Amino acid sequence: MNRTIEGSFQLIGGDFTNAGESSMQLKQKLTEIELGKDIIKKAAVVAFEAEMNVIIHAAAGWLRYYITKQELRIVIEDMGPGIADIELAMKEGYSTAPEWVKNMGWGAGMGMANMKRNCDEMKVDSVVGEGTTIDIIINLNNS
Ligand SMILES: Nc1ncnc2c1ncn2[C@@H]1O[C@H](COP(=O)(O)OP(=O)(O)O)[C@@H](O)[C@H]1O
Ligand SMILES: [Mg+2]
Repeated sequence: MNRTIEGSFQLIGGDFTNAGESSMQLKQKLTEIELGKDIIKKAAVVAFEAEMNVIIHAAAGWLRYYITKQELRIVIEDMGPGIADIELAMKEGYSTAPEWVKNMGWGAGMGMANMKRNCDEMKVDSVVGEGTTIDIIINLNNS
């Protein structure tokens, strides 16, 4: 009854061919274990934005998830440039995505704000020149 369901996906910077694959597989898993529609929608947004950020901004990373009766936790850890000013990065419309990424339709600067809006807790840890870890919790009780 206190079982944790967990899994992980490897992410590769610049790999736009497989972009969205990890969040799609997580979404499938959540559907399979019959979490509510609202939870699945929130988790899909969070996972997709986080996955895209690793692909756009970092070199490589992991998306891991842990599901208990109480919560869905998604942890995205990357090796990359890190984020110097986290508060600024959270602002809607702020983006350092290069022009060619923007030309593909990414890099609107809404990802971090979207993640924040679709979870109950979001913790960002980053070391410039090393990488970023984002720890997200979506409560599964009364939501
Ligand atoms: N994993 C990451 N590694 C390095 N920088 C990041 C990462 N995630 C976000 N950022 C920084 O935060 C900014 C805002 O992120 P976001 O809101 O997702 O917008 P976007 O990805 O469209 O630029 C990015 O442009 C980038 O400067
Ligand atoms: Mg983004």
